[in-house]
Amino acid sequence: MAASKTDSPGPNTTSLQANLDLHRMPRRTLLHRFVHWSVNISLAVITLGFFRFFFPRVLFEPPTKFTIGTPDEFQTGTVSTKYQKEHRIWVAKTDELIYVLLARCTHLGCTPRWLESENKFKCPCHGSGFTREGVNFEGPAPRPLERLGLTVQADGRIEVDKGKVFRKERGQWEKKDSFVSLG
Ligand code: FES
Repeated sequence: MAASKTDSPGPNTTSLQANLDLHRMPRRTLLHRFVHWSVNISLAVITLGFFRFFFPRVLFEPPTKFTIGTPDEFQTGTVSTKYQKEHRIWVAKTDELIYVLLARCTHLGCTPRWLESENKFKCPCHGSGFTREGVNFEGPAPRPLERLGLTVQADGRIEVDKGKVFRKERGQWEKKDSFVSLG
């Protein structure tokens, strides 16, 4: 009678085996799922990378061209700061011409201020000074401010092109696109 107890698994042994199976199965399933998702994620990343190749990143920058009104809208003998905030430019008008200066210091790129009472542009960063025409005369700025390309449109309004830069030290302030002649 004792032999029958040891030879055939009793109800306790069977339930122990079932318990072990229950514990083993989820682990196997878990591993299987892990491998499955790893492969899927890798494939998804590779596929995304593949399609990104056909859609290169595009940087949307503000347009370089904009209009600032007609010459009559600017007062002779003044420097207008009207577009400084929006476009970082100053518009200067003399008896003979209109020119537009980029409001960027040629030392390290700070934005100078137009000081009407002192008739000059003054950079707050390291003290460079520029004449009304944009020529550097004090401080560390190594060269004059830059003038921007101008054209008068059919309706009489002036168009500024920030993509066209004219540098005095290169003799470019003589070029006709660097100013609007009022003569
Ligand atoms: S950035 Fe203007 S003086 Fe240095």
